[in-house]
Amino acid sequence: MKLRTVSELLSEDITIPEVDIKGWVRTFRANRFIALNDGSTINNIQCVVDFENFDEALLKRITTGAAVHIKGELVESQGKGQKVEIQVNSIDILGDSDPETYPIQPKKHSFEFLRENAHLRTRTNTFSAIMRLRSSLSYAIHKYFNENGFYYMHAPIITGSDAEGAGEMFKVTNLDTEKPPLNDEGKIDYSKDFFGKETNLTVSGQLEAETYAMSLGKVYTFGPTFRAENSNTSRHLAEFWMIEPEVAFMDLAGNMDLAEDFMKSVIKHILDNNRDDLEFLDKRLQDEEKTKPQAERSEMTLIEKLNFVTDNNFKRVSYTEAIDILRNCKPNKKKKFKYPINEWGVDLQSEHERFLVEKHFKCPVILFDYPANIKAFYMRLNDDGKTVRAMDILFPGIGEIVGGAQREERLDILKERMAAINIPEEDLWWYLDLRKFGTAVHSGFGLGFERLVMFATGMGNIRDVIPFPRTPQNAEF
Ligand code: 4AD
Ligand code: MG
Repeated sequence: MKLRTVSELLSEDITIPEVDIKGWVRTFRANRFIALNDGSTINNIQCVVDFENFDEALLKRITTGAAVHIKGELVESQGKGQKVEIQVNSIDILGDSDPETYPIQPKKHSFEFLRENAHLRTRTNTFSAIMRLRSSLSYAIHKYFNENGFYYMHAPIITGSDAEGAGEMFKVTNLDTEKPPLNDEGKIDYSKDFFGKETNLTVSGQLEAETYAMSLGKVYTFGPTFRAENSNTSRHLAEFWMIEPEVAFMDLAGNMDLAEDFMKSVIKHILDNNRDDLEFLDKRLQDEEKTKPQAERSEMTLIEKLNFVTDNNFKRVSYTEAIDILRNCKPNKKKKFKYPINEWGVDLQSEHERFLVEKHFKCPVILFDYPANIKAFYMRLNDDGKTVRAMDILFPGIGEIVGGAQREERLDILKERMAAINIPEEDLWWYLDLRKFGTAVHSGFGLGFERLVMFATGMGNIRDVIPFPRTPQNAEF
């Protein structure tokens, strides 16, 4: 007999004399009702046991967390709450679970506790819903690019360059760290290291993606990204996933159009395909909101927020306009910002980004044309000589979700900018080559995948939207 999934069976509206299903017991109530889940849906299937027909010893082993194999008849449910249920004919205990020590009890657990039990947390409704949505979003991303003529490119994970120039990298080495070889100056001799040079885990696949855009036209990367920034916030991970499209002959306006269309499309995909999980998380968020003071509550439910993004244009605002708004806004005047905004040129902090998105514009915002000296070296210099063709997309509840730019395609200006921040030309000779041989306008952006998953699930901590989070002082599992 073919093994069926809970998801399949719950969508049946006929009786089926013999069904075969395997899953984990969520609860066993009144020695009679098993709520069984197999991960295929947030919903459990109710399996009804006539205990008179079963051995007492077997019934005792039907405990929360146990893996079971059930055969029975799919029938119209007698009780409320479900359309169909399984009238059980046989139960096989595949794996026992000790009810005394099983961490995932059928009650509400704190997210902190579940993080410590990340290997079991996807056995809860909340985390199974989040991770199904994560999977669905990543499918939607590949689908979008595939349908729009992009090639999927695998950027290297081990690199010799610091794409963002921020110096927040994890070293990759196989030198003996106790006794590394030293050069004449007494420094570590990386020429003796595995790759014959200093290498690190990538902070972005962009520079490599640019080489592919300048030959294949439209490409994207979607891979793990590593940053050793010591920011222990609810929005930063040391290991996260980034999506980086890069397109030849596209300017900043085209980049904004692409980013907006892309974000809307992937959000629409989950609205169309992951209704049960979204409705569950929507309700969870509403319950959480009720515990907050009225003034801090969100005006929209999760599903309303997702619909809002797909249905409305993102507001496009220059950095200079944004600074004007921030300089004159109430919280700035009342000194409510931790970092007050006084002059043009300062970097925006998350408190400012969130003010713009959540209080001022009340919609996703694309900020562009930032001061050159707060942005990366590869962004195209504007004619004013002081701003670059950068863009950041800010989302409600998240702040920055996308960072991108039109790239500097002029060799002389790129060299000047690299020199100004001491990036040796030898290190990026191949990147400069792109500007020597058939250079052209091109643009791209990076979407932080976990920030997208946070937005899509309404979760407030980035550690709860990646299977096994890596953060300062934590690499368990
Ligand atoms: O703004 P960032 O640093 O841009 C780049 O890396 C460019 N190379 C992208 C490009 O133009 N191809 O990072 C892009 C996005 C951010 O907007 C944020 O969503 C996410 O990556 N991000 C992080 N997400 C989680 N944890 C971190 N430590 C992150 N750092 C950046
Ligand atoms: Mg950024």
